[in-house]
Amino acid sequence: MNKIEITKAPIFTSPNPMTFICTKKPDGTTNLATLAFWNFASTAPGKIMFSLNKGAYSLELLENNKEVVLVLPGAGLTGALIGCGTTSGREKDKVAEQGIPMQNIEGTEICIPEESRLAIHATVSATVDADDHVIHVCNVNNVYANDDVDAVFGWKGYAEIALAQKQ
Ligand SMILES: Cc1cc2nc3c(=O)[nH]c(=O)nc-3n(C[C@H](O)[C@H](O)[C@H](O)COP(=O)(O)O)c2cc1C
Repeated sequence: MNKIEITKAPIFTSPNPMTFICTKKPDGTTNLATLAFWNFASTAPGKIMFSLNKGAYSLELLENNKEVVLVLPGAGLTGALIGCGTTSGREKDKVAEQGIPMQNIEGTEICIPEESRLAIHATVSATVDADDHVIHVCNVNNVYANDDVDAVFGWKGYAEIALAQKQ
């Protein structure tokens, strides 16, 4: 075994599932941010968890409105995964800027990308301070899936985003 930095560890877990965290802005529109640090936490009852950096506008939005939709986007949104992961929605509308077609789902006013393979609607139940991140534990409200959309993954850590069939 070779000793490595924790930042290099995701290279060894590739391909890594990529998500958008969808939250509601004060004007009712959706903010999209790219999020790799998430996981299922429980199935009975359903719980998920994810970690948000302290500079993220999404974190601020979740402090006011505890509702979130975690989405696995399709391959057509590969560019948007980079765009929404490198800019903040604090001063701009990322959905409009990237021209991402959106859809409504039952049970929430938060719109999500049309090209979504999986959408998990959840409510934040607890947060844990993790230094430069905040871990969120959420109760799952509803889960929606579309098998016609293929998921994209982070390869070489998150250096490349591509379909799983790449290798
Ligand atoms: C591939 C990739 C994965 C990312 N994963 C996370 C993550 O797991 N947690 C996080 O807080 N930020 C993550 N980011 C960074 C956020 O998406 C970034 O801080 C974004 O600007 C936040 O948007 P917001 O300010 O509109 O919330 C990731 C970025 C990229 C490009």
